[in-house]
Amino acid sequence: MPTKKKTEEIKKAVVGKEPELIDLPGIGPAVSTKLESAGIFDMMSLAVMSPAALADAAGVSSAVARKAIQAARELLDLGFVEGTEYAKKRENIHYITTGSKNFDGLLGGKGVESRSITEAFGAYGSGKTQLGLTLAVNVQLPKEKGGVSGKTVFIDTEGTFRPSRIKQIAEGLGANPEKVLKNIMVARAFNSDHQMLLLEKVSEMVKTGEPIKLMIIDSLTAHFRAEYSGRGQLADRQQKLNRYMHDLMKLAETYNLAVYVTNQVMANPAQLFGDPTTAIGGNIVGHASTYRIYLRRGKQGSRVGKLIDSPNLPDNEVQFWVTNLGVVDG
Ligand SMILES: Nc1ncnc2c1ncn2[C@@H]1O[C@H](COP(=O)(O)OP(=O)(O)O)[C@@H](O)[C@H]1O
Ligand SMILES: [Mg+2]
Repeated sequence: MPTKKKTEEIKKAVVGKEPELIDLPGIGPAVSTKLESAGIFDMMSLAVMSPAALADAAGVSSAVARKAIQAARELLDLGFVEGTEYAKKRENIHYITTGSKNFDGLLGGKGVESRSITEAFGAYGSGKTQLGLTLAVNVQLPKEKGGVSGKTVFIDTEGTFRPSRIKQIAEGLGANPEKVLKNIMVARAFNSDHQMLLLEKVSEMVKTGEPIKLMIIDSLTAHFRAEYSGRGQLADRQQKLNRYMHDLMKLAETYNLAVYVTNQVMANPAQLFGDPTTAIGGNIVGHASTYRIYLRRGKQGSRVGKLIDSPNLPDNEVQFWVTNLGVVDG
């Protein structure tokens, strides 16, 4: 077990930069590389591992693994927080209405939540972008109307952001369309590296005092899917996506942001009954998303949203509409 002194030494050695895995006892560059290829990039991921799992992933003895985990936990000041402190942390969580009471209900009652990633996946035209555009407007509403008087960062990978549509939704709410549009900062991501890099920009913007409360990535996976389409590239793609999901969650947690991402689907030929589609990115994206919703077209021009595998809410299905006003109930 590392002594207090040892922890202090590590802390001193990493002053001015974020501690990295190689700063931990028993973790050299080779082991660190090995861990990265297993999807473990940062202190937090390592700190929450079991010694056996780490020993396995890193190819080190369980004694070394135990020491590294202990050191990581001390560095992060990971301990038990008191219930009251935990409750306080949860207190400043905010919610953004989707515009549909039904849909909000699917997410626990108030809409998309800060410190969380909400993922919508579905076929082309299922309403993923429309939901994002609606949220980008609704986040600007005052609290009593289901917003947080906040701004949005919209990372557009497919060129589907439509200022005219934003204005239309804003007008429907009786808001000033130009003002609403101004509170949405749009960045076009040209490839997956650029998409990843943009997260640093978001972090900078929040630090300079921009009241950003919502971040949208539409689409999360399109670039990754296009760039890593070759045979044998799946592992690389998943590793990069894993890192990206990690960075997203970190941003959400650090700055109390709600994160909304859209994801595509692909045909799953192995499934013979029901809806034969699965989300891109599989478990990597699925596990990192706090709320996953499958969107599809429903009866009479409606849409259906289905909550999938939520840890704390029932898997449920609701109907909503996309109209001039954005996302609404029937
Ligand atoms: N102003 C509008 N009024 C009604 N429906 C709209 C409007 N704008 C877009 N839609 C609907 O939204 C669909 C596009 O949904 P979109 O969110 O772009 O799908 P995707 O899941 O591919 O992102 C259109 O096919 C149309 O049915
Ligand atoms: Mg879209």
